[in-house]
Amino acid sequence: MTEPVDEMRGATPNAGAQPGRTLPGSGADGGRIRRVEAEDIAQIAELDRLGFGDEAWPQEMIVAELAAPSGRYFVAEDGGQLVGYGGIRVGKRDSEVMTIAVDPAEQGRGWGRALMEKLIEAGAEAGSVRVWLIVAEDAEPAYNLYLSLGFVPVERVPGYYRLSARDGILMVLAFNQ
Ligand SMILES: CC(C)(COP(=O)(O)OP(=O)(O)OC[C@H]1O[C@@H](n2cnc3c(N)ncnc32)[C@H](O)[C@@H]1OP(=O)(O)O)[C@@H](O)C(=O)NCCC(=O)NCCS
Repeated sequence: MTEPVDEMRGATPNAGAQPGRTLPGSGADGGRIRRVEAEDIAQIAELDRLGFGDEAWPQEMIVAELAAPSGRYFVAEDGGQLVGYGGIRVGKRDSEVMTIAVDPAEQGRGWGRALMEKLIEAGAEAGSVRVWLIVAEDAEPAYNLYLSLGFVPVERVPGYYRLSARDGILMVLAFNQ
């Protein structure tokens, strides 16, 4: 979904995540965020299709991505059903959010924020000083979510989403040292 970001510059130190919110789950277990497991792949592929339509990842790409050693993938689960998923590639200095999607029927309830907080936490645990991501120029809910977590826009990436010819916006969250 994203390109290497090592050479990107211009980050402004900013606030970090605000963990500890109550999960919005309605199931008997109240909902949870957990690490992805192999049997989640079909549901993840469906969430990806719902979230990204024609630009969804092929299932074999999801399988490869989930197996990446630097990948940390999480699912949001409510009553045994997956309602969202997200992943980050972590590094000693920089981490990069690869994807996040919440079932449209479950959006607006806090799952996206809970997933993003988990991804940011995974980056911090790996020792990163920054988390990067690229968001589509017209993905307003995602852009607002990232802004609210302390990400700042750094630069526009023209035509980043090739299929739809949309620009991407590169954003960064720099942890306070
Ligand atoms: C982005 C996405 C994951 C957010 O998931 P969500 O569960 O709906 O998000 P939350 O309910 O946790 O909302 C978190 C914040 O997102 C923003 N947001 C959510 N829905 C919004 C909407 N319809 N309009 C504007 N901002 C919105 C708000 O800032 C919100 O914070 P608030 O509730 O304090 O106002 C979800 O919209 C999605 O799956 N979109 C399609 C896939 C996508 O665009 N992924 C991002 C790729 S970079």
